[in-house]
Amino acid sequence: MQSLFTDAFFKDLVLQYGTPLYVYSGDKIALQYKHLQESFDPKTTRFFYACKALTNQHILQLIRDLGCGVDCSSINEAYMAVRAGFTPERILYTSNGIAFDEIEAAVELGIHINIDSLSNLEKMGAKYGHDYPVGIRLRPNIMAGGNLKISTGHEQSKFGIPLEQIDEILQIVHRHNMHIRGLHIHTGSEIKDVKVFMEGATRLLELIDHFPELSCMDLGGGFKVAYRPDESGTNILQLAEETRLMQEAMSKRAGRPIEIWFEPGKYLVSECGYLITRVNVIKENGSTVFAGIDSGFNHLIRPMFYDAYHHIRNISQPNAPKKKYTITGNICETDQFATDRLLPEINEGDLLVFFNAGAYGYEMSSSYNARFRPAQVLHYRGDTRLISRRETLDDLMHLQIL
Ligand code: LLP
Repeated sequence: MQSLFTDAFFKDLVLQYGTPLYVYSGDKIALQYKHLQESFDPKTTRFFYACKALTNQHILQLIRDLGCGVDCSSINEAYMAVRAGFTPERILYTSNGIAFDEIEAAVELGIHINIDSLSNLEKMGAKYGHDYPVGIRLRPNIMAGGNLKISTGHEQSKFGIPLEQIDEILQIVHRHNMHIRGLHIHTGSEIKDVKVFMEGATRLLELIDHFPELSCMDLGGGFKVAYRPDESGTNILQLAEETRLMQEAMSKRAGRPIEIWFEPGKYLVSECGYLITRVNVIKENGSTVFAGIDSGFNHLIRPMFYDAYHHIRNISQPNAPKKKYTITGNICETDQFATDRLLPEINEGDLLVFFNAGAYGYEMSSSYNARFRPAQVLHYRGDTRLISRRETLDDLMHLQIL
């Protein structure tokens, strides 16, 4: 897999900031957004970056400047979006399993809200009636995405209001004369097959007649990007074309224009990011050779949590003969990044770079084992800057009452 940065650039960053280190290419984020803008009809399609993937203010501001909206999964993400300068009209709050007071706080901000339970819909209707238009998150009962942990629209999923409860939804909506501005689904992450998006959209299309004030259909995020060298992502041009046809069908059925909204996270920020680590120890154990790095699932949990594959490059000796290595971390857990991976020979002190670390990398990190979260660096339009510093012992202890 081709890296966006040269090995020399990575090494320079390490000299300046040490390891482990997250580094992002803002230019890649801009390129990804541009591809969306050029593929879809901007008059009928809107994008809201699912900022749970990476919330650093510099990243949010960059995405704001590109013209993209932002999708938040908690009220704090919404506050962060406000701080990054997004106007309420460009902020979407897709809640799940939350207490009603967060919805009240979102109303205070004046942002778009998607409600995902009958009980919150009832409370919303009782308090705001027709005055505050909302979206309803539905569970379309579709199995989608890379694996069960990241599939969210299936029949056992906690997300959204099950489609079969449409009668209960309509009773609440009518009882309170609610203004339903949109219907929402998000069926999972890493959805390669465009048909899955359209299957979900078709379920929404069939509901249009029930909601006379509807102005948008939100199909969520989940565009797949390549994690493995031999993989390809969602075909964006095909998705754009099928979305265009779907948008026309929806607008025709509704008798007025219906916008299509998407909430990409990984698509915008996965490939832009790298985690640079250093090899602490090489340990031979029968046929297994462990390369132990100065990181762990405290910094990048995806391989252990989802069995996710992350491409690894040994930038210290990229052309050395290949051998099999099991890459492990330094925390007191079985934190295995890769098993028997064929990599150029690794020596202690070498630098290993993990690809696709932009989305849900730093954002899902922790300070477990009292290890510091890495620093983060952004390279954008020729400028390289630190966007968050490495944690310190004081940071780890600053909430403790001493
Ligand atoms: N919209 C909603 C309502 C979501 O729940 C998510 C992701 C997205 C959009 C963005 O999905 P994306 O385009 O990034 O696939 N942490 C996991 C994935 C779970 C994401 C949860 N929701 C991972 O590292 O793969």
